[in-house]
Amino acid sequence: EARGMIFDLDGVIVDTAKYHYLAWKRLAEELGFAFSETDNERLKGVSRMRSLDILLKIGGMVFDDDARRRLAEKKNLWYVEYISRMDKSEILPGAGDYLGYLRGRGKRIALGSASKNAPMILERLGIAPLFDAVIDGNKVANAKPDPEVFLTAARALALDPSECVVFEDAGAGVEAAVRAGMRVVGIGDPAVLNSANCVVGGLDALLPKNLHNK
Ligand code: G6P
Ligand code: MG
Repeated sequence: EARGMIFDLDGVIVDTAKYHYLAWKRLAEELGFAFSETDNERLKGVSRMRSLDILLKIGGMVFDDDARRRLAEKKNLWYVEYISRMDKSEILPGAGDYLGYLRGRGKRIALGSASKNAPMILERLGIAPLFDAVIDGNKVANAKPDPEVFLTAARALALDPSECVVFEDAGAGVEAAVRAGMRVVGIGDPAVLNSANCVVGGLDALLPKNLHNK
């Protein structure tokens, strides 16, 4: 039985995708091109700089490193402004209960997120104390699908990768978990997350009260 549970943040515990989308769209519009919600799907689980590169490619624009850094900073300022208004009501259904349930069963819990804003989001939502370890974009050099974030989380929990289960909503994250040698529960669309060991619509589906009639 698994002893460690490692959670992605965006799209698993909280629905920040819409704020990332608003901020990227605002940047695209300022640069003079459109950015759709379908385009935004490609940025899920992807690091900030890599997201910017995908966005600029869609707009057919090229910038040097300095300009790219400034653009990424600008997007982040808007994003932080949006999420600073976020509250507990934006925790995804069942996420808080499921974390509490796992803690009650003595599981070790870590966050494994690409986001550099993760600690601030956990604080704002009041769920930071539910995690034994928080590994985020500030603590790793290689973004998902590289397994570094999950391997670092397992180490922080003092567990072997084989003892850990990852919860992920993005294709890049599922791939990272598989490469880390961990089992993966996909959150979302089974067609997109086909490398996951199983896929559910949300963490609420994993609560004991919802498992009985399955
Ligand atoms: C998560 C999100 C991505 C985001 C990345 C970096 O993986 O799914 O959309 O680009 O984190 O987030 P940050 O808050 O550091 O810009
Ligand atoms: Mg995610």
